[in-house]
This record gives sequence, structure tokens and C-alpha cells, in this order.
Amino acid sequence: MNNVVVIKDKIKPFISKINEIMGDKSISIRFLILSSFGYGTSKAKNLSISDDILNTIECLRKLGIKIQSDKNNTYVQGVGIDNFLKKKNISLNAGNSGTAARLLASTLVRYDYPIKITGDNSLIKRDMRRIIEPLQEFGVKFLTKRNTLPLIIQGSKFIRPINYLENRGSAQCKSAVMIAGLMAPGVTKLKCKPSRDHTELFFRNVLKIPLKIVKTKKFDYISVKGNCQFKSFKYNIPGDVSSASFFIVLTLLSKNSKIVITNINLNPTRTGMIKILNLMGAKIRFKNVKTYKGEKIGDIIVTSKNNLKGIKCPAKFNSSAIDEILLLFLVSSVSKGVSIYRDLGELNKKESKRYDWGIKILKMIGVKTKKMRNFGLKIYGNPNLNLTKNYTIKSYLKDHRIFMLSVIAALTLGGKWKISDSDSIDSSFPNFKEIIKNVGGKLN
Ligand code: S3P
Repeated sequence: MNNVVVIKDKIKPFISKINEIMGDKSISIRFLILSSFGYGTSKAKNLSISDDILNTIECLRKLGIKIQSDKNNTYVQGVGIDNFLKKKNISLNAGNSGTAARLLASTLVRYDYPIKITGDNSLIKRDMRRIIEPLQEFGVKFLTKRNTLPLIIQGSKFIRPINYLENRGSAQCKSAVMIAGLMAPGVTKLKCKPSRDHTELFFRNVLKIPLKIVKTKKFDYISVKGNCQFKSFKYNIPGDVSSASFFIVLTLLSKNSKIVITNINLNPTRTGMIKILNLMGAKIRFKNVKTYKGEKIGDIIVTSKNNLKGIKCPAKFNSSAIDEILLLFLVSSVSKGVSIYRDLGELNKKESKRYDWGIKILKMIGVKTKKMRNFGLKIYGNPNLNLTKNYTIKSYLKDHRIFMLSVIAALTLGGKWKISDSDSIDSSFPNFKEIIKNVGGKLN
């Protein structure tokens, strides 16, 4: 096993404040990609410095974009639409990031030259058909006949706008089509299940691109006017709520503890987990809330809670909690009564098969679960769960969220844990272990 972390003790009660959650990964990727085809030098403060972002930077550099950083700021010299560098044998490696791979592919709709996109061991297993199909409709050619990376694609100057139905609640698919639509003549129309709306907020409040959005109960109808040019911009990126989530659950499930996590993105399309936890009886509060470029930002305050109750989690929350569902499984395991989750098929499309892994980990720690049709799950909670055995987590395709989930389980439920591949955290949250230690968690 590589990079093994051993945890033998539950965390002691703590009162702490975290100011070091890195910039939101979704917004960081959108900043990099969109600024690269704005005109002039854009500046981001607090860009995430996770591997997913560093890989995105490397890909854009290969396309001739100059990107520099000093201590807090990152500068991107945008070249406008159609001015990416064209050279033989460029291979863009998105590493572990589905968002980077999918959004980069859509960035290349007008790039009329063959170019390869690939990724790491986990990313090359993930479904790309979901973006291949709409991009083909725009007029992009895929020179490889497969639905996974590596892909060789060739865009065209003569792309056309499309009508697109996004039925999974995937912000990556929605954003890929919106970005491609930005470069097509005419109007690209999307009908989307609601999902994180950073791209919409970016288009409207940062790029100032005319965008029509009509929201109904089930779908958002979005029209993107294409062939729009825009200037460089500044963006002060708030902390990533998906990273903060591990500390929310750590605090909630620890005894007599309290935490304040400052300057976090609290966009309602991202805070499904917090809404669900509050429905389960947690009392998570926000403070110092303000709006910045359409994004809600503020501090999160969490205190321990020991009599949480199970939840029948409405599937409408899935998208806004998509990266946090495994943490919710963990909370359900120690809550009173049965929790029911539905329609979680998308979880098996992530960095690892997270639906399967969630069930496997719960089984390992003695929590009864029952699979329901269409990727539903019943979790039979046990508020007295206290672990005493040995637990090993390995071979999970280095999925950063599986690693961090296991650390939180170990620190709150007890037992002796050996968790491999601690470097997986570099993908989204390189300072995770450091913050765990600051709060009092013992990792060996
Ligand atoms: C992301 C969207 C989500 C999420 C991922 C980041 C984004 O993926 O899981 O971590 O930045 O748009 P899907 O859109 O595929 O659900």
C-alpha cells in the first residue's frame, strides 16, 4: 500500500476556526478556461492550488496561454476566441479532473486542428459520451471511436448552435454546452435539470454576456447568445464548500466541539448537504453572508449534535450535494432510524464508483444497508455505533473524496484504520491533512 495513513484515536473535543480552505475548484476551473479566451490579462485571487487546477493550467499553457502566479494571485493572458496555439501532437492531460477534461473539450469547438485530451487512470474510465454527443452536434469531429479518454478531437470554424437537453443534473455537461455555445453563431438553447450554476453566474455577472434563464420547477431553460467577445476580468475566489464539508461532518459527529469555517462559497446550488443535515436535526448556521458576482459567500458555524435523525432524502437535493453524498451516508449511519436516498446513479460516474464504495465502507463498519432499485439506498442508522476493529481502505482508484471520508469516519467512530494513497487529496484539497492536524486529529 502507498502513502498509508494510520488512525488509532478518535479526535478529542475541539473548538476551532479554519481560515485556510482553498479557493473553490469549480470556480477556479471556470476562471482559468473563460479568462483564456477573454481579451487581456485576468486576475484571480485565491485560485485553488490543487492538482486538478494545476493540470488545467498546464493544458492551457500548451494552448499558448500565459499564466503566472505570485503569492495570492494568478494572472491569465487571454487571447480571445480562435487564437489558441496550433501545433502538431499537442496532448492535454486533465489528470484526475472530469470538469477540466469536459470543459476543455468544449473550449476547443472552434479549434480546427486535431488535438488529444487524456487523463489519469481514473479519468480514462469515465464516460465522455455525455459531451461527445452535444459537441458533435455543434460540428466537432471525434477522430477516436470511443466514449472514453484519450480522445482526439478536431473542432471547426463552421460550428452551429444547438438545442440541448441536460437530464442528469450535471453542471459539467451544462457548462460544456454553454461554453461551446458562447463560440457558435446564433443562440444555443439548453433545457437543464437544475445543477450548480457557477457558469451562468460567470456569464452574467463577470463576462456580462446576454443570457436568458427561465426557471421552472423541474428545468432551467437557458439561452446563450454566441459569438460574444469579452474583456479580461478580476475574480476573488471564495473557499470550496465541498472541502469545508469534511470539517462540517467531523464537527457534527464529534463530542462537544465547535468550528467556524470562514469565507466559503454558499451558493444554494452547492449547499444541499447542509440543508439535508439541518433537516436531520443539525444546527449549521451561516454568518457574514454577502453576495459577490452573484455567488453567496459567508462563514459556516457548526456544533456537535448527537441525536440526529434519519432522512428520506428527496432526489431533488442530489445535484446540490453530489460531491457530499458519501458524507451524508456516514451521518445517516449514526442517526436514529432509517435513511433513504434515491436515484444516485451519477455517483458511480465519479472518480471511483462512489455508490458502490459507500455501501462497501458502511458494510465494513457494520452498518446495515439495502440497495433499492435505480440506485436507491436504505441505511439503517445506529446512534450507538462505536468501532473497535481494524479497517483497511485501499484500491479505490485514488479517489480523493473516499480518502477524506475514511479519515472523518476514523476520527469520529473509532477503530484502527489504515487508509492508503493519502496523496489522492492533492487532486482537490492538498492541505486537508494539515488542517485535520490543526483541529486536533492524529494521523500517522
Ligand atoms: C462539477 C460538477 C459536478 C461535480 C464535480 C464538479 C463542476 O459533476 O461532481 O466535482 O465543476 O461543474 P457533474 O456535473 O458531472 O455532476
